[in-house]
Amino acid sequence: MTYKTEYIASTHHPDEFWLEQARNIAWFKPPQKGCQKTDNGYYDWFRDGQLNTSYLALDHHVKNGRGDNVALIYDSPLTQTIQRFTYNELLVAVSKFAGGLARLGVSKGDRVIIYMPMIPQAAIAMLACARLGAVHSVVFGGFAANELAVRIDDAKPVAIVTASCGIEGSKVLPYKPLVEEAIELAKHKPQACVVFQREELIATLDEEIDYDWHALVKTSEPVPPVTVDATDPLYILYTSGTTGKPKGVVRDNGGHAVALYYSMNAVYGISENDVFWAASDVGWVVGHSYIVYAPLIKGATTVLYEGKPVGTPDAGAFWRVIESHKVNVLFAAPTAFRAIRKADPDAAFLSKYDTSSLRTLFMAGERLDPPTYYWTNEKVGVPVIDHWWQTETGWPICSNPVGLEYMETKPGSSSLPTPGFNVKILKGFDTQQSPGEKGAIAIKLPLPPGCLSTIWQDHQRFVDGYLREFDGYYSTGDNGYVDEEGYVFIMGRTDDVINVAGHRLSTGEMEEVLAAHPDIAECSVIGINDALKGQLPVGLVLLKDGVSVDEKALEQDLVQRVRDRIGPVACFKRAVVVNRLPKTRSGKILRKLLRQIAANESITVPSTIDDPSSVREIESIMRDKGLVKEPSAV
Ligand code: COA
Ligand code: AMP
Repeated sequence: MTYKTEYIASTHHPDEFWLEQARNIAWFKPPQKGCQKTDNGYYDWFRDGQLNTSYLALDHHVKNGRGDNVALIYDSPLTQTIQRFTYNELLVAVSKFAGGLARLGVSKGDRVIIYMPMIPQAAIAMLACARLGAVHSVVFGGFAANELAVRIDDAKPVAIVTASCGIEGSKVLPYKPLVEEAIELAKHKPQACVVFQREELIATLDEEIDYDWHALVKTSEPVPPVTVDATDPLYILYTSGTTGKPKGVVRDNGGHAVALYYSMNAVYGISENDVFWAASDVGWVVGHSYIVYAPLIKGATTVLYEGKPVGTPDAGAFWRVIESHKVNVLFAAPTAFRAIRKADPDAAFLSKYDTSSLRTLFMAGERLDPPTYYWTNEKVGVPVIDHWWQTETGWPICSNPVGLEYMETKPGSSSLPTPGFNVKILKGFDTQQSPGEKGAIAIKLPLPPGCLSTIWQDHQRFVDGYLREFDGYYSTGDNGYVDEEGYVFIMGRTDDVINVAGHRLSTGEMEEVLAAHPDIAECSVIGINDALKGQLPVGLVLLKDGVSVDEKALEQDLVQRVRDRIGPVACFKRAVVVNRLPKTRSGKILRKLLRQIAANESITVPSTIDDPSSVREIESIMRDKGLVKEPSAV
């Protein structure tokens, strides 16, 4: 099957195409129905199918005689650990932990928040929830207590699963006090908190609510997988939107399993004997889909790496992991390779390792900038593939489907729409752009299986945020263009979301933190281009009348506030005092204009501007403070 025939089949006859793909996974009750309209006017997939995701990822392989194959390799240069779990061993660990959770009162449909570092127990906890039909919500360790509290109040978990600490470079970060603070801040109080004690730091447990992971597992019996409907939620994953409140992206069980299995074949070209390594974190969508679920549903081996591309211990870390575990396909963020290139421009470390097992290197999380593409391609010597996706879709919207047919790569492009995704470039209502013309990127409905079904407890937010802009389409929030040959080029966001080191962050959320400072009247947070992390947030702040401050001290205070409220992951390190911000006559800050100045782009001053001289003034301050950087700085 070539890419073209497969793509046409998937978009012209989606039901037929996906019901055929659905036959590849082990359902308890195979679906007869493909895509159906729901009562709320959206769509679902495989409504009449029944399954269990942990069964697909574990029991199914054991039943088929592959129990002794390695399912998961934990590699932690930080703790000098390499641990391998066969499918048999992972099944025992998951079904026993699921038994433990069940004893704590977790059952089908209940939510469980998982706040864990990159240790195997994070994946075990996720799969244990899936086994019970419970809905997990993993929260990235770099978020502060307040962010965790917001998610606790939204998801209302029965239990939280955490670890005593995370390890980041040379720092041991206590997790337990942070969880305690979050529970304190939240209105909703979970019944139980399971703590995995790591020897680097032992947490003090509270008898009332805390359970030691090991003790719980020791005294629990393994439980069988619970049957769920294809449309039942598997997980909620919070992601940044334009407002301060994160959006709980809901993923179903059936469509998710079918889409991920398909992607392992068509996009990544993975077989059961392959080793797949997604160098991400379980707190992000890449970690959900490609550290945990997809490789295991496929029956391959996944690598869970607790370390960084550089500094753990050096810029040879990635090559060492490839050699140690004979990795066949690596998936990482471009920022990781920019970090490696910066530390080791000639890739001297590469020659110390045998990386011949590597077939393909996939990049995502942000646009793969051409300099990083060329460097990686030349040094590593395997196809380097940019592919584009989002938390909402759960798998790549655009890719080079090497499993079907290797297509030519074009630097700066995330290649072609993946089968199932009917991608259009639109301007205004349903006006399709011609090749080369920029516009908003939208996907014609229905989306293929595996994409979000709604926003947790807020379907209206889902409709307003994604379905209203273009009737009959899902708005991605990204803009770009398609060339004559159908290659898609992603140029950036249409909203106030920024991308810092492959992490998606909301400037609106940071603005809320800055605006709460007693000395600040108004503010705007924008992303400026950064050579390592792609973008970095910077706050432009306007003081209240009559207030005079030490600008350095104010900056430090604001940096600390963002760290405390959102977390270190925001990488908020700069705040600059300005005399005024460019605004419309109705008082709206012209954020787009600020973004254009920061990127040294030609400026479009809207006719509604209140005072045109404010543009020159802010531009001069931003230049003075070194905040104007072209994307070529990346
Ligand atoms: N728990 C607690 N804190 C965390 C954390 C975690 N899981 N992850 C990051 N942090 C902290 C870091 O310690 C750092 O804190 P600091 O300000 O006290 O130094 C801060 O958050 C920023 O971290 P990070 O963005 O990771 O910066 P870095 O300088 O430590 O590393 C890179 C830079 C480029 C090496 C790193 O960002 C990277 O590997 N990025 C890849 C991202 C990725 O995989 N994205 C997924 C999409 S595929
Ligand atoms: P997240 O939901 O955290 O995965 O972030 C999704 C957003 O990251 C997308 O909407 C894009 O803005 C950006 N992104 C991810 N992958 C790419 C890519 N390959 N090229 C360009 N932008 C990307």
